[in-house]
Amino acid sequence: MITTNIEFNFKGSNTSYLTHSLHPYPAKFPPQLPQSLLKQFAGVGQTVLDPFCGSGTTLLEARLQGINAIGVDVNGLSILLSKVKSTPLTQEKQIIIKQFITQLEKDNSGWKNIRPQITTKNIEGLSHWFQLNVAEELTYILQEITKIEDNEIKDFLKIVFSSIIVKVSNQDSDTRFAAVNKNILDDFTFKIFISKAVEYLKRVVELSNKIDTKTELTLFNADSRNLSFITDNSIDIIITSPPYANTYDYYLYHKFRKRWLDLDVKFAQYNEIGSRRQFSSLKHDSQKWTDDLILCFKEMHRVLKINHPAFIIIGDSVIKQKIIKIDEVIKEFVSNIGFEVKDIISSDLSNHSRIFNPTFAKKGKKEHLIILTKKND
Ligand SMILES: C[S@@+](CC[C@H](N)C(=O)[O-])C[C@H]1O[C@@H](n2cnc3c(N)ncnc32)[C@H](O)[C@@H]1O
Repeated sequence: MITTNIEFNFKGSNTSYLTHSLHPYPAKFPPQLPQSLLKQFAGVGQTVLDPFCGSGTTLLEARLQGINAIGVDVNGLSILLSKVKSTPLTQEKQIIIKQFITQLEKDNSGWKNIRPQITTKNIEGLSHWFQLNVAEELTYILQEITKIEDNEIKDFLKIVFSSIIVKVSNQDSDTRFAAVNKNILDDFTFKIFISKAVEYLKRVVELSNKIDTKTELTLFNADSRNLSFITDNSIDIIITSPPYANTYDYYLYHKFRKRWLDLDVKFAQYNEIGSRRQFSSLKHDSQKWTDDLILCFKEMHRVLKINHPAFIIIGDSVIKQKIIKIDEVIKEFVSNIGFEVKDIISSDLSNHSRIFNPTFAKKGKKEHLIILTKKND
């Protein structure tokens, strides 16, 4: 049964326990949200789907509760991050990471001798977005990571590497794509990589004692408008948060991370739904946003088991200067798809711990928890 008494204001809660704080990612769930929904509406051995898994918050909470998790995201970095955040490492692998960190500290001390041998990685826009000293240190660290054979260790170190890219680049911040002069000194890139590696390893060690390794984690770097790789009626519960239209460009803010890691940029750029790139240009009207959501909801409906629930967290947006009350839009189309609306809980965005843009709430926009079940017909 779906009760209407669901809390989704976690202001003041610790949202960064275990590996939840690994790597920046915009508009993450407070982990308490999927945690509480999974506790109430899913059981051990069942399967949760998050078709916009982002940093993998739902997936990690599922594994902690013995629930199998399927994550889909158009952003390749999101898939790598979700994997690392939810993957325990054996003691042997933890030791190899510690040795890697120690060796890097030595290399940092002997950098004067290593530096002349470095040819910086050739990535598009390098000289505009990175100082030469930073690019050299990044190139060296990445070369050392690439030499590691074990994929779990390599992926962990790639996430550490990716997490520092915006900070050491000329990109102003994770949510502002403008070049600024940060005057980053020699050594800083090594030092920040090492300190993040130590911090993240501590968190993964803590996680490794808690995760239920019998659960399955399956990830797809794909567009959720087409989930053909997931069987009909196979999912017990969906917990997800699609983008809030015209608010972010996930592909853009992560562009240099992906270029350094040789992850595909274009796939996310052309298939991300609701991006600022699409809707700030006034090229598209809100119908395009509705059409994309309909495709996603049809797929969520197809893969969900009958009478099972889907929890969607989504925010209002402004498209062509008009406020889009997304709860009303969704209410209108979901029953034709075969969902029953069980409840919609709306809240002013300023009440939320995941608030990322203070001007967002001022415009009268709300965030909604939309609770649906798949009808039996
Ligand atoms: C609000 S974020 C999800 C954050 C997530 N709940 C978390 O806790 O990290 C929305 C995600 O949707 C992804 N996305 C956008 N368009 C997509 C599409 N067509 N298919 C799959 N994922 C998409 C973005 O890359 C982004 O990671």
